[in-house]
Amino acid sequence: MAGRLDGKVAVITGAASGIGRAAAELFVAEGARVVAADIDDAHGGELQQAHPNHLRYVHTDVTSEADIAAAVTAAVDAFGRLDIMFNNAGAPGDPASVLELGPEGFDRTLALLARSALLGTKHAARQFTARGGPGSIVNTASSAGVQGGWSTAGYTVAKHAVIGVTRQSAAELGRHGIRVNAIAPGIIRTPIMARSFGVPLERADEFAAFLDERHGPLQPIGRLGLPQDIAEAALWLGSDASTFVTGIVLPVDGGATVVYAGAAATDVFSAVADFLAE
Ligand SMILES: NC(=O)c1ccc[n+]([C@@H]2O[C@H](COP(=O)([O-])OP(=O)(O)OC[C@H]3O[C@@H](n4cnc5c(N)ncnc54)[C@H](O)[C@@H]3O)[C@@H](O)[C@H]2O)c1
Repeated sequence: MAGRLDGKVAVITGAASGIGRAAAELFVAEGARVVAADIDDAHGGELQQAHPNHLRYVHTDVTSEADIAAAVTAAVDAFGRLDIMFNNAGAPGDPASVLELGPEGFDRTLALLARSALLGTKHAARQFTARGGPGSIVNTASSAGVQGGWSTAGYTVAKHAVIGVTRQSAAELGRHGIRVNAIAPGIIRTPIMARSFGVPLERADEFAAFLDERHGPLQPIGRLGLPQDIAEAALWLGSDASTFVTGIVLPVDGGATVVYAGAAATDVFSAVADFLAE
């Protein structure tokens, strides 16, 4: 059976873990060749070893424009073209509240989460237009990009900005045959949850299971998300199945943002206290 991404070449940032890793695995399984761009060389190297013919790991810090440009070039050098750019890398950023956040933490968080999506879009779109062909760009936003209260101030502002990047780029680039869409994941079971709430990383899986038990039943779908749920959405937006879709923000959150699902940052902070006290 033909793969849904046969013949396509993708760059996926943040591909060494969580959502990006699940997307890399799924894209390869569906026939794509992938440049996995991340700063985590150990896990990125493992991923390349698992898929030596279809995936190339490239050390890429998405806060560096030169690194982003080099990841795009690496896709063309290794696999001859670029069709899909998945701007997905991220980390919690500055944890300060609105009352505490300073300019340095704000700028650092915006650079990591939002400027990276803009620069990834810029360099992928230049590659697409140079080839004269279509292309698809997918940005990872968040429920924190469409509502307040899900996360910290810097992260929330940055994820709202990712949606701005998506809409403006869709408006400007559509005439070149380039589509730009965003996914807004809800609470997904990846190590970022532990990173965000100060839980030791070696307990990340255990913490995700704890949160799933506590918050899963409050979501309309009755569970937290898996990285594969987001990978499937990225695949659809990246593929030719969605060629009339651009500028959208696709919530993949089990319905959490259509109801109050007991998932706001304050709820998770109280869960963390209970988890660490156990
Ligand atoms: N897990 C969730 O609940 C959730 C919800 C909404 C949005 N998101 C977003 O999904 C994306 C992926 O996160 P995840 O949940 O898979 O987390 P994760 O921690 O499992 O993976 C994030 C990856 O990004 C990489 N990364 C961090 N800083 C980087 C940098 N400067 N340059 C390149 N790579 C960098 C990390 O090394 C890691 O491999 C992020 O943008 C995150 O904000 C996650």
